[in-house]
Amino acid sequence: MNPERMSKKELADMVKSLREQLDGTGTPASLGTSGEDLYKILAQSSQVGFYIMQDRHFKFINSHIRDYTGYSEEDMLKMNPALFILPEDRRKTAKNAVMMLKEQRFSPYEFRIVTKDGRIKWIMETVMSIKFRGKRAILGNSMDVTERKEASRRLEELEALESSILDAIPQAVLGLHERRINFANHAVKIIFGWHREELIGKSIRMIYRNEEEADKIGDIFYSSLERQRTFETEFPCMCKDGREIICRMKASRIGEKLREKRIVVTYEDITEEKKAQEELERSRQDLRNLSVHLQSVREEESTRVARKIHDELGQSLTALQMDLSWLEGKLPARNKSIREKTRSMSDLVDSTIDSVHKITMELRPSMLDDLGLPAAIEWQAGDFQKRSGIRCQANIRCGEGIIKKELATTIFRIFQETLTNIARHSKATQCRVALTENEKEVCLEVVDNGIGITQWQIDDPHSFGIIGMRERAHLWGGTIYIRNVKPSGTSVKVMIPLGKGEKQK
Ligand SMILES: Nc1ncnc2c1ncn2[C@@H]1O[C@H](COP(=O)(O)OP(=O)(O)OP(=O)(O)O)[C@@H](O)[C@H]1O
Ligand SMILES: [Mg+2]
Repeated sequence: MNPERMSKKELADMVKSLREQLDGTGTPASLGTSGEDLYKILAQSSQVGFYIMQDRHFKFINSHIRDYTGYSEEDMLKMNPALFILPEDRRKTAKNAVMMLKEQRFSPYEFRIVTKDGRIKWIMETVMSIKFRGKRAILGNSMDVTERKEASRRLEELEALESSILDAIPQAVLGLHERRINFANHAVKIIFGWHREELIGKSIRMIYRNEEEADKIGDIFYSSLERQRTFETEFPCMCKDGREIICRMKASRIGEKLREKRIVVTYEDITEEKKAQEELERSRQDLRNLSVHLQSVREEESTRVARKIHDELGQSLTALQMDLSWLEGKLPARNKSIREKTRSMSDLVDSTIDSVHKITMELRPSMLDDLGLPAAIEWQAGDFQKRSGIRCQANIRCGEGIIKKELATTIFRIFQETLTNIARHSKATQCRVALTENEKEVCLEVVDNGIGITQWQIDDPHSFGIIGMRERAHLWGGTIYIRNVKPSGTSVKVMIPLGKGEKQK
């Protein structure tokens, strides 16, 4: 056995057997030259330091002692043995030695020595009283435990560092073995209200709302950690005072395998964060609902006004037009100036009818209601080309009347906004619009050959046109993709999933 690895107990056992050997050969008092030989034999065969001291001087030392002190035997026999010991340890060592000699102490004691080259070493020692050359002497067994001391000091340091790290982090940290808590840091008090001492040794159930949930999360952890090193989740927990909280938990297994079911889990209270998130989501949803409501109110209002203008103004103008042509027919041919006046009145009524038609179309394209989205898109593209001079090519691959009216309005309004943007910002000479649809979704893409758009313009919180398009699409669970196209220009693509309710029956 390596003497460095020997424990206190082993040293004590060795000394005991030494004592027995000595006792077996007779009392120390009877030892003469043959006794001295025996000591030498024992010393040489000993695995640890072995010395005999008498009259404050070493009478004999073995090689192990020479090795750890660094002095030669000759030097050591001349020196005062107390001087090897570190000054601050001398008094305590002397006291321990005396107690052991009086058989008031049985376990080995430790002290530090200074070696010949000035290093400090830890020594563990036992002493016993013997008779040597007819006089009282001390027989000492000692060994160098510096390495072991150093290792345990390093371990202690590491443990202290570990526990200060664990105490410095704001999350509660629990070490678990077979679902029992065997470690807890100070933050458990802040998060769960329990003192760590109250938790250690207890079932992990202590921090959950009930037995079932504790079992459930335990099963989730253990089964996930079989496959991966770490696992993260959110789960409800319960504090000492019965308060329920939501925790973000990160679990990781201790060691390579989960065989021993030892894991460590950190708990972060995210109740407030969750609440704020939910609050934000709720207010976003409220805003969306409000915007849907406002849009539908606006659409309804536009439809109502468009219908009224169409029905009342349109009909009156048509009647007026008919009256005018009747009047024209009745007028004598020679009355040229009145005839001309009537003609110009009739032209004016015609152009007013046109204007009314345009206004009602803008308010609510009747085509959307009468012919459906594809025709309305085609008409709008043609109208845009006429008005802006920008060539607009429509490619419609979408069945008529397939898309529900409200969704058709959404897509149509988005289309109108993209066209307005093209006219206002793009400097394009032409644009293409494609409306396609399959089982799953409807897609509208408008591409122009203008100057293009920047990401900054797309993300600008003041781009209300784009925000409005996004919001409209979002209401139907759809998405808008805006990007630059090569060689130049902008593409706006809207994709809206067609759930059961979005198609017209
Ligand atoms: N087709 C396009 N080509 C080039 N730039 C564009 C195009 N569409 C939009 N933009 C840029 O994106 C910006 C944001 O567009 P958005 O529709 O949100 O706002 P707007 O048209 O300026 O104002 P609003 O639509 O609120 O009247 C525009 O100001 C413009 O700079
Ligand atoms: Mg705009």
